[in-house]
Amino acid sequence: MSRYEDCESLLRDRRMGKDFANSKFFEQIMGEAGEEPPPFLGLGLDDWDAKLFMLTDPPEHTRLRGLVSQAFTPATITTLRESVTAIVEDLLGGLPEHFDIMERLASPMPIRVLGTMLGIPAEDQAQFTQWSIEIAGLLDLDVQLAPEVAQARREAVAACTTYFVELAASRGDSDGGDLISTLVRARDEGSALTTQEIAATCVLLVVAAQETFSNLIGNSAILFSRHPEAFTRLADDPTAMDATLDEILRLEPPAHQVGRIALEDVELHGRRIERGDAVILLVAAANRDERVFNAPDTFCIEREARPNLSFSRGIHYCLGAPLATMMAKAALLGLTKRLTAMTLAEETIAYKPGMGLRGPAKLPLRVGKRAD
Ligand code: HEM
Repeated sequence: MSRYEDCESLLRDRRMGKDFANSKFFEQIMGEAGEEPPPFLGLGLDDWDAKLFMLTDPPEHTRLRGLVSQAFTPATITTLRESVTAIVEDLLGGLPEHFDIMERLASPMPIRVLGTMLGIPAEDQAQFTQWSIEIAGLLDLDVQLAPEVAQARREAVAACTTYFVELAASRGDSDGGDLISTLVRARDEGSALTTQEIAATCVLLVVAAQETFSNLIGNSAILFSRHPEAFTRLADDPTAMDATLDEILRLEPPAHQVGRIALEDVELHGRRIERGDAVILLVAAANRDERVFNAPDTFCIEREARPNLSFSRGIHYCLGAPLATMMAKAALLGLTKRLTAMTLAEETIAYKPGMGLRGPAKLPLRVGKRAD
């Protein structure tokens, strides 16, 4: 699906689910895979039965999302703004004239922020960068992985999950203010939440934040290098922030597609989507639908068009959208405060592999710096 109207209505359509255990392709893979299921089928550990709630349907989805949603309301996010700004200041302090923005800002920032929210000790945070690349790869639901890739992914899922099981255990009797302690208390107060579900939820939060947010910063830098006037305008007029960020998200969304599984037969434009069919919704294409956006391939912050679909719609609407938006504003503000312009230091952009997410793997920049 690539039209805006179709993507928007199917994202809101309760006949479309996310649990791929209901899909025809799952049945087929289980038939073929026998003893060794592809790594996305489990979290890589024995006796494991918790799922990432992004890949569940109600009522499981409602219960699990409900337990963490308090931590992501706009009001809660406001209380984090100061610590996010401090993280940006720390990462951007003493910038040279030539640096890789992925290494310097885009990759370390989300895990530092999530680390603060979840209470992950600073010395443990670096390992999440590689884990989340491997785990995010799983969300492509690719069934034809080379054995060594599948193995690396399985190991990353197992290591990351084990880490959170142990972290949750170490919070046993604490009354800490971090999100893991809150989930541990919810479990102990009888919210029908298991330790495995706490760990799976933490894996999901880190992975959902890490790759998407780093893509957003990388894609922003690419657009600013091609549209220096937009960067200058943002530096001169911070009230242009909302419109600029919306336009970056529309034109270069960090997630290009999301998947759904038909839970019933659905008719669309005279064609039937059968129960169990997998449907790919190309939100990146919908964001450039010329029926909705004038000159859709043009970067233009003066648009009065419909909202982009980059954070999805419906019950799986990105839980982290208010956090991601606040973090992106802090990061872009940090860049405009320090820099006059940025240009790409290499002509060819090396993008991360995979189909669902899109952003650079590395992005060396040359920058003009403001006088202190
Ligand atoms: C620019 C950054 C981000 C983008 C573009 C983005 C995009 C998305 C999209 C498209 C989905 C929906 C998937 C679907 O409909 O199937 C989603 C779901 C989700 N996102 Fe984000 N995301 C971003 C950042 C974050 C952050 C910072 C977090 C926070 C930890 C987060 C947490 C989640 C979670 C938990 C879900 C699953 C929601 C559910 O299934 O109910 N995301 N995100």
